[in-house]
Amino acid sequence: MTIITNPIPKFTCFELRPLTGSIGAEIVGIDLNAASDELIGNVHTALDHYHVLAIRDQSLDPAAFHEVARKFGPFSGNPIHTPLDGFDDLVRFTRSAEDRGPVVGEDWHMDLAWMENPPAITMLYGEEIPAVGGDTLFASLSAAYEGLSDAMRSLIHNLIGVHSGKGVYALNAAQKAFSVRASGHVADDIESQHPVVCCHPKTKRPHLYISGSLTRFVGMTEAESRPIIEFLKSHAQRLEFTCRLRWAPGTVTMWFNPCLMHAAINDYPGKRRVVLRTTVAGSPPMAAGGR
Ligand code: SIN
Repeated sequence: MTIITNPIPKFTCFELRPLTGSIGAEIVGIDLNAASDELIGNVHTALDHYHVLAIRDQSLDPAAFHEVARKFGPFSGNPIHTPLDGFDDLVRFTRSAEDRGPVVGEDWHMDLAWMENPPAITMLYGEEIPAVGGDTLFASLSAAYEGLSDAMRSLIHNLIGVHSGKGVYALNAAQKAFSVRASGHVADDIESQHPVVCCHPKTKRPHLYISGSLTRFVGMTEAESRPIIEFLKSHAQRLEFTCRLRWAPGTVTMWFNPCLMHAAINDYPGKRRVVLRTTVAGSPPMAAGGR
């Protein structure tokens, strides 16, 4: 398949600083509280191209974060976490200084990849951030696709992945910071099928659709699928496809969820980290090349 390259637009209403050669950018000089439709449109366009944006120096309470998020689209739903009082679409993830053990999201994953219609955008707002530590890693599944050989691309081009929500509820329930809905158990029974090679709905740039939830390929056993899945996951984590995002209080980080995997770094024992989170609905993942 031909690789689609999209010229990156120039932005005049903010300063945009790319984080690496393959993924991510920082935006400075805007106030999301007062964002016009034009500004939101420009941020959305930047997101289409960079896939992860860290918008610095915001001052948002939950109501303002909700207002900003809904300008990017309707809530996607979240079958797992209990929402913040008064806001169906927000959750607050608190890691206290006393908490030990894994942080949720420390394994590479795409958010809710096992849903039939996974969120298009995830947005987090840093309420309390340690002075050092608690960064988030992102891996571009577009750059990873483009970094495959022609033969490997042909091999995976028509594969359909089976994604399972099994274990997600238990994983979240094990963390007291991530209060889970009693009904969240339903995730254990959810299995969805998505093409392994999808494309971004606007730019049409192809990307892998892989996550920890990918268990096998349609028509293959788990044992047959496993080596390919493991190869694709480790390939996507190659350093040249990643960026590491450093947080600060007041940072809004948003990512185009189906085009990347991310991982939270568990390196801040004894420190408190609090983020607000919401997700934005999109269309179901589209196979690349119109399959
Ligand atoms: C997540 O996996 O959504 C959490 C990322 C983070 O807390 O940095």
